[in-house]
Amino acid sequence: MVNSIHNYMSDVKEKIEQEMKRALTDVNAPANLKSSMQYSLLAGGKRLRPILMMASYHTFQSQSDKVLKSAVALEMIHTYSLIHDDLPAMDNDDYRRGELTNHKQFNEATAILAGDALLTHSFELVANDALLTSEEKVYILKELANVSGPEEMIAGQMLDVEGENKTLNLNELEEIHVHKTGALIRFAIMTGAYLGHATKDQIQHLNDFAYYLGLIFQVQDDILDITGDPEKLGKPVGSDTENEKSTYPSLLGLEGAKQKKAAYTNKAEAALELANAKDSYLKELLHVFGQREY
Ligand code: IPE
Ligand code: IPE
Ligand code: MG
Ligand code: MG
Ligand code: MG
Repeated sequence: MVNSIHNYMSDVKEKIEQEMKRALTDVNAPANLKSSMQYSLLAGGKRLRPILMMASYHTFQSQSDKVLKSAVALEMIHTYSLIHDDLPAMDNDDYRRGELTNHKQFNEATAILAGDALLTHSFELVANDALLTSEEKVYILKELANVSGPEEMIAGQMLDVEGENKTLNLNELEEIHVHKTGALIRFAIMTGAYLGHATKDQIQHLNDFAYYLGLIFQVQDDILDITGDPEKLGKPVGSDTENEKSTYPSLLGLEGAKQKKAAYTNKAEAALELANAKDSYLKELLHVFGQREY
């Protein structure tokens, strides 16, 4: 590896953040709406989805501006999903990314609208990307709409809300995780590989890799809701217990959840090997995702 994974991650993060700032500066919206969008988008997330997208693309190509705008679009959708996820009618949380949640800083109506605006603006960003061909734009827009829509991320959020105060079984829980968190992670990896011209066979194996990575990511999120340090996380712990959510630790215990994570990690590694991508940053990101403390 020419560059350590941590340098790689901070380089991509910087690039993405510059591009995000630029993308919002150009938006001609009412001042409060614009500040509310900027507040959450620029609040300092880990930018893991854009990083994954870049890493997937870099597995096959060296130049990187081609994925930049789509990666920003993805981070906008992720940020919108968090603004709405934190609302009183959803998880009712007061802190996010180390700051007050959007509805606490502004108000509920503004937070709802900032979420709507980030979601829809993301599509405009891709549609206006001069570095993509028309065919690439249609592909990306279709996938982006699908993973953030009623069959994927929103399906997961709906099932998550409906699962409150109930004990779900492991299959039901996995179904929620694969949708609410896995879908955007899958989009990051698949779009990076598509734009990088991976073969059909490689894309197939990367799809398996992404499936397990999404699960690993959310199992760790569930674990951190119990064992995490709120200062580092920038969001409160105990939210899942308070909302009586079924989580991996609540179903399997903390040790059981960790074992499950290890089993998913083995499967993800095997898929990456089959994709012939074991020298890619994706391999290291797999461990970063599984071991992260925030
Ligand atoms: C949190 O995502 C929400 C989940 C889907 C579990 P991240 O942990 O990636 O949050 P940020 O983007 O770094 O704030
Ligand atoms: C959020 O899952 C998933 C989406 C926003 C789509 P969580 O509710 O577990 O995320 P956190 O723990 O609040 O970040
Ligand atoms: Mg939630
Ligand atoms: Mg939440
Ligand atoms: Mg959580």
